[in-house]
This record gives sequence, structure tokens and C-alpha cells, in this order.
Amino acid sequence: MKIRVPATSANLGPGFDSCGIALSQYLTIDIGPETKKWQIKHQLGSEIPSDEQNLLIQTALDLAPNLTPHQITMTSDIPIARGLGSSSSVVVAGIELANRLGNLGMTPQRKVTYATKIEGHPDNVAPAICGDFVVASYNNNEVNFVKHAFPDCDVIAFIPNHELLTSESRAVLPKEMSYRDAVKASSIGNVMIAAVLNGNLPLAGKMMERDILHENHRQHLVPHLKKIREFCKVYGGYGSFLSGAGPTVLVLTPPENTEKLVTALKAFDHEAMIDVLSVEKEGV
Ligand code: HSE
Repeated sequence: MKIRVPATSANLGPGFDSCGIALSQYLTIDIGPETKKWQIKHQLGSEIPSDEQNLLIQTALDLAPNLTPHQITMTSDIPIARGLGSSSSVVVAGIELANRLGNLGMTPQRKVTYATKIEGHPDNVAPAICGDFVVASYNNNEVNFVKHAFPDCDVIAFIPNHELLTSESRAVLPKEMSYRDAVKASSIGNVMIAAVLNGNLPLAGKMMERDILHENHRQHLVPHLKKIREFCKVYGGYGSFLSGAGPTVLVLTPPENTEKLVTALKAFDHEAMIDVLSVEKEGV
């Protein structure tokens, strides 16, 4: 039995802690035979536990404490601590592992709510569970969300050769903002979402670059964002934004402009990884 969870990109600019897309990179869990103790085979680095201390098993056991241990093989092409939902993918895989081994019959609503309570915000876990584009709110312990098709485009991921912890990138955010700015931020996010729903990527991309909730405060942690935004404009991308808490930046582009953008991004930073992805329609 296999479980496959897509990478995700949260925020899409002004949809901070609310909007996200699933992407065509994956964490895969292969469930092997029953064993006496949980054994996780992986090549993701020695700091990632190979026993029941692994976040995958911890999440599964929190949900279903009596699960029978199995041998699990875990592979992932989602880079760690780059803003592409690597830890959310493990949490979602753990929930699905418990769901399948424990025959829990969980609905997407229950999975998203459970995962959001662990993560604190729904914008990675909801698209990892549902696929495609998801808009979600988390209020008074309740998660409400809508999944919708994302318009066709290429998604270029500029993945810097260094990690940025979400905790570090959240620590620079202000505790408060003015009522006037909150109204402005909400209107920008609303137009971005409406444009996505209408299939209007030029307008969506423009609004994705107008965020005033987090990118401006994180600018000093991600100095490459400004330059990538210039390339996006010059070479015909729809728009660019910090992927989740960074440091990865995503550029949405019509396929005919992908090559020019990739060439420019490679010349800008030889050490960064540049991947051409697409929005993944399927969740876990
Ligand atoms: N919305 C979150 C943030 C995503 O930007 O901090 C991080 O996982």
C-alpha cells in the first residue's frame, strides 16, 4: 500500500495563512509488512528518526494509538525547510497512515481540521490533502475551506541552496497592523482569489505581488525575491511570490516563457535549484 502526498506552496502572496496550491513533487510512503516495532527506511538524513520518534509515526499514533507497527519506506523529492511544505507532507502522510491502517474512514474535512490543529494554519495541509488550489480559514477551532481548479500554467520554483526555518520567518512578522492596512490587505487577497477562480492569471499574478501582510516584513531574509520579480516582469511571467515562509520563490508563467525565465534564473544564481513544476490536481 502506498501513500503519496504532494508538496505545497502556501500564501500565494496576499493569501497569508489561508491560500495554497499542491505541486508536482511528492513524499511517498510505502507500507511494508507488520513488524514488532516501527521501522522507517529512508535516505533523508541521519537527523530524521528511523523509529517511532519519526514525525510520521508520532502523528499516526496520536490519532490512532493502537496501530500495529509496520515497516515503512519513505522517499521524498520535497526539499526540506525551503517553503514547499515538507513537514506538512509528513503530518498529512501520518494522518493518512492512521486513516488507512486503522480503517478510520476520515473525511477530507476531518483530515484538514486535524492537520491544521497540528500545523497552526491550514494553507499547506489543506492543498496537500485536497490537491489543486485551496482557500481556507481557521477560526475558533473551526476550519472551513474551498477547493477549486487552478488555471493551467507552469510553476517555476527557485529553490535557494540554504534553509530558512518557518519559525525564523514568522518571528519577523509584526504583532499588529492598522485597521486601514487590514482592509487593504483583505481587498488585495480577495481580488487575487477571484482572479484565480475566473482563470485570469495576469490579474491574479499582479495581485500576488501586492501582498502587505508578510512579504515586506520578510524581505531582508529573502533578498533574491526582488530580483526574481524583475525577471518575472521582463520575461513575461504572470507573477512571483514567496513560497510559504520561504526561501523558495515561485514564478507562475505561460509555458511559452518558461525557458527564458529558467535561463535568466540559472544565470542569476548558479547554486539555486530551478525546477519547473505544475499544480497537482490530486491530494493525498
Ligand atoms: N503561511 C505560513 C507562513 C506558511 O507564511 O508563515 C509557512 O508554512
